[in-house]
Amino acid sequence: MQKNTRGLIGIAAITLLSFLQQDVFSQKVTIPIETQHNALVLQTNATNNLGIIYLGPKLSDKIEYEAIPAAYKQTTDYTGVANAAYATSGSRNLFEPAITVTHADGNNSLDLQYVSYETKKLDDNTSLLTIVLKDPVYELEVKLFYKTWYNEDVTEQWTEIKNNEKGNVVLQKYASAGLYLKADNFYLRQYHGDWAKEMQPEESRITHGIKTLDSKLGTRADLFQPPVFMVSLNKPATEDEGSVLYGALEWSGNFKIDLELDNQDNLRIIAGVNNHASPYTLKPGEVLTTPAFLSVLSHKGKGEASRQLQAWARNYKLLDGKGTRLTLLNNWESTYFDFNETKLKALLKDTKELGVDLFLLDDGWFANKYPRNDDHAGLGDWQENKSKLPNGIATLVSEGQHNGVRFGIWVEPEMVNPKSELYEKHPDWVVRQPKRPEYYFRNQLVLDLTNPQVQDFVFNVIDNLFTKNPNLAYIKWDCNAVVYNAYSAHLTNQSHFYLQYVQGLYSVLQRIRKKYPTVPMMLCSGGGGRVDYGALQYFTEFWPSDNTDPLERIFMQWEYSYFYPAISSSNHVTDWGKQPLKYRTDVAMMGKLGFDIVVSKLNASDLEFCRYAIKNYDAFKYVILQGDQYRLQDPRDNAVAAMMYLNPDKRSGIVFNYLVNNRYDEGSARPIKMKGLDPRQRYRLTELNLYPGTTSTIADKSYTGEFLMTVGYNPDVKASRTSVVLLVKAE
Ligand code: DGJ
Repeated sequence: MQKNTRGLIGIAAITLLSFLQQDVFSQKVTIPIETQHNALVLQTNATNNLGIIYLGPKLSDKIEYEAIPAAYKQTTDYTGVANAAYATSGSRNLFEPAITVTHADGNNSLDLQYVSYETKKLDDNTSLLTIVLKDPVYELEVKLFYKTWYNEDVTEQWTEIKNNEKGNVVLQKYASAGLYLKADNFYLRQYHGDWAKEMQPEESRITHGIKTLDSKLGTRADLFQPPVFMVSLNKPATEDEGSVLYGALEWSGNFKIDLELDNQDNLRIIAGVNNHASPYTLKPGEVLTTPAFLSVLSHKGKGEASRQLQAWARNYKLLDGKGTRLTLLNNWESTYFDFNETKLKALLKDTKELGVDLFLLDDGWFANKYPRNDDHAGLGDWQENKSKLPNGIATLVSEGQHNGVRFGIWVEPEMVNPKSELYEKHPDWVVRQPKRPEYYFRNQLVLDLTNPQVQDFVFNVIDNLFTKNPNLAYIKWDCNAVVYNAYSAHLTNQSHFYLQYVQGLYSVLQRIRKKYPTVPMMLCSGGGGRVDYGALQYFTEFWPSDNTDPLERIFMQWEYSYFYPAISSSNHVTDWGKQPLKYRTDVAMMGKLGFDIVVSKLNASDLEFCRYAIKNYDAFKYVILQGDQYRLQDPRDNAVAAMMYLNPDKRSGIVFNYLVNNRYDEGSARPIKMKGLDPRQRYRLTELNLYPGTTSTIADKSYTGEFLMTVGYNPDVKASRTSVVLLVKAE
């Protein structure tokens, strides 16, 4: 329903729409956007601008939201729009804008005033609120969207910007969302990284001014910084206490998230596509839709916020989030580029011997004129290499079937090596500055996905693989280079490059998903250089990092788990790190389990252990993949790290415990408290994944949930038992 609310009297508005309130005297419109625990309350002011008057726990009586602004006696807001729902620039706003425009006549000012709202209940749990804002002087319209998932407390915000002027309007900045928070203090947990060092957290108090999280890398956009963060209100939230807001931009390209602590000590968050080198020219009648910014707010600490976000991702965002996942053997680290059909056929037998579901053939299977025997050549030439694979992939797929294992394949279709037939044939498809020397990242360049012909090419790389091999069961989609020397031979307006690259990528992924809706695909980017919910709608899982040292992974997977569910995290057992095979396998089991080892070189006990662990994983993976995740002991603060997964029915759980400190006599001296159990239920603890020849030191005994959560359990982690997995089963 669409309402122009300016003229309505309050009583009628309240009767018609319980969530809309209108003050009859001031003509203020108040819009509370409520989820299970929270409310984001918007209100128009005396100049008809829409502001955020509240973001916090929801109140029982909606009318009381009206009284919130008067409860604050902060310094004067000279602008009158400091709390803008979508801050403009060039008029009264003096703070970081969400939108900056140059109108057709060259004027740089914008004022957005409230026009109307519309609400739709999409299903029992999901609502969509649309608010129309317009400039009273210029014909520019902005629609704000707030999509809420009630049970999960998740909100997505995005905008549509429409040019109704007679000439072009240039959008100098076009963020997705604005939020405005009030608290005594704010603490930011942000992440930085590099290759093999993804998701390194840093937490600090936010000081006055602007803290910017951003990327200008174009493709592998998260290499140095991912588009996710947390803000704790008043004091740093702990796992189970404190108010904390998680934010994430659903976008696989350049992003910019500004956190501005202003003169009134309030925090403004503006998040969206990075406007760096990207003013967007909006033609008359054209609409630009910005990507979604998601947020979740919890008042029970980081743990609850993460469980809400994980549940939302599984239920609504991640492809096949409610499904299961295949275990696999990957050949990247066991062969690198050095393989042939005979070797791969042996690996297919190893896959069966190991007991995993699928064999994943990695990089190096393609290109003939410039064979892909190392990372200097061949990218772009997606024909099977005739000397390595004289009978093509088809023979491997059918050999896999013969062995009862499925077959998956690696691709990197957005990229090209200068040493390739593709580059020779289509230099105009390559992102490069025509008048400057080329500069390479991993000896390669990025294809210009703004060009529809290139989009067709990339789609066809995947489509041809499936057409020729209908039984292909898995794709690993890699993306190893960033964008240097951004220039598209296809575009007339170079400022559109970064935006249209990602739009082109999504359009290809949409086509792939239309034709192949269910095939599992891993989102990989030279490790975790591209992990975001924009891409994860098309992928079933992501590759967190090339760093698979299990000790490092305990820390990294811990941080990823705040934002992404275990089902989406591909964890492989490799030869990285110094820990024993059991430790490496236990760590990899905390998500989607895979292996990248030389199976034929495993000794009998190691092989027996792997087979047994895979059987355990198959039996209990539903708990890991679909369960609620509870962080029991943080590896950063304890010698023993502990992570628990609990089925929503609270009848089965799995607890992983690791020694993460090798100093003398470190171990689980004190019990570790479980979380989430039914206090009255009795649970039996059984140790899983025992290495052959060892016995458990855990007593075969049952305890009440109350005991396990109040006193705790002791996994008996010590130097001789560095990794302990416990099954928790209701009796
Ligand atoms: C980078 C990925 O992260 C690795 O897993 C592997 O697939 C290589 N690329 C192959 O070139």
